[in-house]
Amino acid sequence: MPSEPLLAGKVAVVTGAGKGIGRAIAEALAAEGAEVAILDRDRDGAAAAAAAIEAGGGRALAVGCDVSEPAQVTAAVERTVADCGGIDVLVNNAGITNTSTLEELTLELWSETIAVDLTGVYLMTQAALPELERRRGKIVNVASQLALRGAPKMSHYCAAKAGVLGFTRACAVELIGRGVHVNAIAPGPTETENLFGVPAETLDAIREELPIKRFATVEEIAPAVVLLASGNGDYFVGATLNVSGGHVM
Ligand SMILES: NC(=O)c1ccc[n+]([C@@H]2O[C@H](COP(=O)([O-])OP(=O)(O)OC[C@H]3O[C@@H](n4cnc5c(N)ncnc54)[C@H](O)[C@@H]3O)[C@@H](O)[C@H]2O)c1
Repeated sequence: MPSEPLLAGKVAVVTGAGKGIGRAIAEALAAEGAEVAILDRDRDGAAAAAAAIEAGGGRALAVGCDVSEPAQVTAAVERTVADCGGIDVLVNNAGITNTSTLEELTLELWSETIAVDLTGVYLMTQAALPELERRRGKIVNVASQLALRGAPKMSHYCAAKAGVLGFTRACAVELIGRGVHVNAIAPGPTETENLFGVPAETLDAIREELPIKRFATVEEIAPAVVLLASGNGDYFVGATLNVSGGHVM
């Protein structure tokens, strides 16, 4: 007898799901029966991702939203609740990656990175919390291996992603008694447009330093999120799952 999909009847919000890792996460959650709200500041990307899920027989809603803008976050959560009836899963995936030496790092780039990669996680969590508490939901934050180890020219990104892990643990302790699970994943280098523009020799050096000797596909990252978002993840509280080919152990 076929088993019940892990997320049948659930509503999941995935930020930054217009492409890359977020889109793969949205597709994986939809494949497990969730209705998925695709939030992205790229409205066309969100619409295309939602259309692809619907074409495959799933249910999806595209919502334009910049996670660093409080009013847009509130509106996106309200729209999702109005259209889908509630929120059971929040995946904070939206993020930007840029490189800069410390000397060249501008306050503008620092602030933009913190605003999207860290403040966006706080804003989305706070806005969705009443619904997540009402439905005893799950939050999965997409951090990075660079929350756990340093990398040159990435001080702003490492700081933001380490902040995401601190926020994850604090929320996990604060919210578990109210029925809300909060966890994180820390992907290693993954084949997305984020890696476009990185010099080939740099990519070769990173690949060589990975025990697994290759980058992840987006499809290899998504299952960890499905686990933490589903009932199979009920004993994870404040955990960080390393999906990194051994980058950090
Ligand atoms: N690709 C990697 O190697 C890698 C490794 C570790 C962690 N990550 C993290 O995974 C997440 C996804 O990365 P990716 O490689 O898929 O990136 P990507 O650039 O391919 O996709 C990011 C998506 O987020 C959206 N986005 C960006 N800023 C936004 C904002 N302010 N509001 C709403 N949407 C916004 C973009 O429009 C895009 O659709 C990020 O948090 C990134 O830091 C990526």
